[in-house]
Amino acid sequence: MKTILITGCSGEIGQFITKKLLEKKYRIIGLDKSKPFIKNKNFIFYKQDVTDENGLKKLFNEFKNKRQRIDILVNNAAVSVFTPFLKRKKKEATKTLNTNVYASIHLINLFVKNFDLMNLKIGKIINIGSIYGLISPDYRIYNKGDRINSEVYGASKAGLIQLTKYYATFLAKKNILVNCISPGGIENKKKQNKAFIKKYIKNVPLKRMASLSDIFFVLFFLISEENKYMTGQNLILDGGMSSW
Ligand SMILES: NC(=O)c1ccc[n+]([C@@H]2O[C@H](COP(=O)([O-])OP(=O)(O)OC[C@H]3O[C@@H](n4cnc5c(N)ncnc54)[C@H](O)[C@@H]3O)[C@@H](O)[C@H]2O)c1
Repeated sequence: MKTILITGCSGEIGQFITKKLLEKKYRIIGLDKSKPFIKNKNFIFYKQDVTDENGLKKLFNEFKNKRQRIDILVNNAAVSVFTPFLKRKKKEATKTLNTNVYASIHLINLFVKNFDLMNLKIGKIINIGSIYGLISPDYRIYNKGDRINSEVYGASKAGLIQLTKYYATFLAKKNILVNCISPGGIENKKKQNKAFIKKYIKNVPLKRMASLSDIFFVLFFLISEENKYMTGQNLILDGGMSSW
């Protein structure tokens, strides 16, 4: 049974992929700063802030002592900030970059050490990026009060896409495959109103926002045993939005 460590497992995407992967008989180690959302014999939850370096080191020491292997790492936890860029505070930028970029770097390093220690033969790392790591949000579709993604969120996701390529080349000799999934906006009626969704999908050739199943499908393809050759890629899941 393969073990997958998923950060941000209690969030919207995290919950969905955790449940689906449990159904597919993976063992999940979930990390989140908020609460666990299910109980399952194959789900081990750690309330862990991914920006807490010492906490993460302790956790991986615990894995070392228990001889706990991690076959796959999913860097999914992220934060954003929605205040206008002209009012950007250093604190907001630092938190976004620390969570979305530095924590991923730190987790990848710890994952590789665990990989070596456990003498694993193949490893997979999936970074969850965003379409806004490639293109800028179309500010014309946002009304006052809508959550428009910030410059610092975009920069953090662009950074994650580059890190994917960097690690893919450097970790190839260990047979660790590193890929990124960059989704467009996921439809969530609690977060977006009807008017916004209508305007957003005008920019999408497939005329809808992304679904959680769309993301799971690509994740499952990347982590599947049959994927032994795809690495260093950024799989864009935006219904064609960036292809106009
Ligand atoms: N929802 C979308 O439309 C969308 C689109 C493109 C990309 N993404 C990306 O998908 C990923 C998941 O997004 P989501 O929509 O599920 O977000 P979400 O806010 O629902 O979930 C994020 C989870 O990460 C956790 N988290 C945040 N900071 C943390 C920290 N420091 N330590 C530990 N846990 C932390 C939160 O508690 C939360 O449970 C993110 O990387 C996001 O950027 C989301």
